[in-house]
Order: sequence, then C-alpha cells, then structure tokens
Amino acid sequence: MTSDRSAALRIDGDRLMRRIEDLAAIGPIDGGGSCRLALTDDDRAGRDLVVTWMRDLGLDISIDGIGNVVGVRAGRIDGPPTMTGSHIDTVRTGGRYDGNLGVLAGLEVIETLETNGIETEHPVAVGFFTDEEGARFPPDMLGSLVYVGGMAVEEALDIEGIDGAVVGAELDRIGYRGTSPCPGPSPRAFVELHVEQGPVLEAEGVTIGAVTGVQGISWTELTITGQSNHAGTTPMALRHDPAYVAAKVTAHVRELATRMGAMGEGRQVATVGRIELHPNLVNVVAASASMTVDLRNTDEALLQEAESDLARFVAEAAAAEGVTVVERTLARFEPVAFDDRVVDAVAAVAVDLGHSVRRMPSGAGHDAQMLARVCPTGMVFVPSRDGISHNPAEHTDPADLVAGADVLLQTILTLDQEPLDR
Ligand code: GLV
Ligand code: MN
Ligand code: MN
Repeated sequence: MTSDRSAALRIDGDRLMRRIEDLAAIGPIDGGGSCRLALTDDDRAGRDLVVTWMRDLGLDISIDGIGNVVGVRAGRIDGPPTMTGSHIDTVRTGGRYDGNLGVLAGLEVIETLETNGIETEHPVAVGFFTDEEGARFPPDMLGSLVYVGGMAVEEALDIEGIDGAVVGAELDRIGYRGTSPCPGPSPRAFVELHVEQGPVLEAEGVTIGAVTGVQGISWTELTITGQSNHAGTTPMALRHDPAYVAAKVTAHVRELATRMGAMGEGRQVATVGRIELHPNLVNVVAASASMTVDLRNTDEALLQEAESDLARFVAEAAAAEGVTVVERTLARFEPVAFDDRVVDAVAAVAVDLGHSVRRMPSGAGHDAQMLARVCPTGMVFVPSRDGISHNPAEHTDPADLVAGADVLLQTILTLDQEPLDR
C-alpha cells in the first residue's frame, strides 16, 4: 500500500507540456513534428537537453557503450531500480510524442517525487534508449536490445545505416559512446508510457491502455537486380525489370495481409515502406530495386506463415521476370507478453484515478518489449488522434498526456511496494 500522501501525488502537467514543446523544437519539421534520426546532430542536441534536465534533477547519470542514457534517483535501499523511459530518436517524419512522452513523463515522475520529498523504497530510474526507431540503423529497439544482452555491443557498433554511416563512428562523433557496460544492469521492473499510435482507444472513448504485449515484427530488405536498358527500344517480352517485381511484391503483401487478417486469430499487417530504384530515371528500365517489407502479427505461427508466403512469392516473381533477389533480415522479434503483475497494476491504478481502461496489445515496437526479457514489464498507452503516428500530425490531447503520466507515477509507486521476485 502506498501512503495517503503518495497516493494523492500528481505530476505537473504544465511542466510536462513545456518539456515536450522544448524537445520538439529540436529538429522541427513542417506540421509540428520533429526529425531526430538516431545519432544525427539533432539527436545529439535532443540528448544534450534531456541530460541537462536529468542533471538538474540531481540524478546519477550513466551512458553505456551503445549510447543508452539512464538517470537514477536513490531509494531508501540500494539495489535495482524500478525503471521507466523510452526513446527520443524519431523517424524522419516523426511526431512530437512517440518515445519523447515516455522519457519526459519519466522525468516528470521523478521531479514530482523530488519536489514533494517522497522517498521510495527502491531507486527510480528513467532512461532513453538509442535508435528505437531503427529507421536509420536497423533493427528497431537497437539500444534496448543491446541493454538486455540480445545483441553484443560490438555487433551493434558495426551496423551500417541507410546513409552508409556506421553506429560506432556516429556515437563517437556525437560524443555518446559511454563507458557503462553492455548489457546493462537489470531493473526490478520496467514500465513505459507511450502514445498508442493506433485508433483503438480514441474509437472506444477510453483514456488508458493497459498494454498486454507487443506483436511480432519481421523486417526484410529485398535487393532485386535485373537488366537496365532503354525504355523505348526494349521489347516488353525481353525485359528483366526490377521495378515490375518490386511493384508485384508491394501488391502481394497487401493481398497477403488482407487474406490472413480476414481468417486468422492474429492480426496480420504488411507494409512496403521503402522502395528505391536505380538509376531512377524516366526513360531507363531500372537496373536494381531495393525495398523493405515490414510484417507483423500477434501470433508467431501466423507471422512465420506470412514470411513463408512472402518468400515463395518473391522467388516466383523473380523467376518469371528473370531477375535475381538477395534477401536480408533487418529485424526479427517474436511477439512478447508482458507481466500480469505490471499489467494489473497499470489497470488498477487507472481505475483508481477515475479513468476508463482497456487491456490491449501494441501494434508498434517498443523498448519495453526488450526489457521484458529481463524483468517484469508493462506499458501504459494514451489515445492518438485519428490513430495517426510516424507523421508530424501525431497528436494526443494534453489532458490524456497528463492522465498517462499520472498513471505512470502511481504505477511506479505501486510497483515500488511490491516484492516482484520472479
Ligand atoms: C518502431 O517503433 C516500430 O514499431 O517500427
Ligand atoms: Mn516509440
Ligand atoms: Mn516510432
């Protein structure tokens, strides 16, 4: 049981909104969003700002070998912290809440404890993980994956980005290759606040999502090589056209997801998010196409079925057109189930605070799905207007942002009082 004084604690909504504004002003883009692709100069500026706030709060700050930054406020006893956090890197067309909300609400939780002189039993930590988006350096959730020991830091440092830059060199360049060890110390529990990035909460008029898990993610890059030639002189029957195969694959993955989504238990989604043709000219049959396919499903067996279907179709389409295809896996994560104790705590706190709540899986990937490998983990969702995200138009009502941050605060206080031994 938390004390009456702790139970009455609420975060400062104006301070939270100010910090969201200030961070969004770094790497601003038309439409009100931000572009802070991982390990760019704008990412560095965002990191510097958040680290300044951590310092102002007197947190014990550490930076590890992949650039994850963690700030800890001491508790009554030493030992692993109850941890929160998220990411501050964005996609190129990012909104202002994706990731940033979770980090800034974490700071707000700690500042609220600090200004009210509340001593927790265990330390409380807030972190931001490197390259959650994976939009520049695949896979997504790279920093948290390394944090939990799912990838060796040496391997991560060698990853090449879509612009040819390399993770290790970029970390050095922006001054965020730290000295704390990877994998990092396991927290006693992890809970992340995030915007839903989908339409469910808004459609149902529900304020808080108690997230039960994250669907599986499969990213594949296809490099299709054909025969470049003159657009006017090459008879159609003699073409080996990578653009045609890329288009067929694009149409097929839509058809695949529609078909599987309509039949299965799992909810299949499929996206071709990037296609690049070379030389990309009006009167030239392309020499090559590079494209990505993002497949997701809450059910691992169905996700594997979608992957096999894609591989089969690609092989057939390539053979029919006489092109070659090289496939590379950019990310592959199985579906993750969160810990009932954390999910229940989130749901109970939401009800206590007078909010409507719904248990739901996450469609997007999150750092929490990596932390779930090492400690009891859960997430809090708040509604996204029109379900829009990875778009500068991403929006959540300030009242919902504040509601989510208050649920985060009270969930952390609840977990602080629970034994949570596995
Ligand atoms: C990452 O955040 C993703 O869901 O793609
Ligand atoms: Mn995110
Ligand atoms: Mn995102």
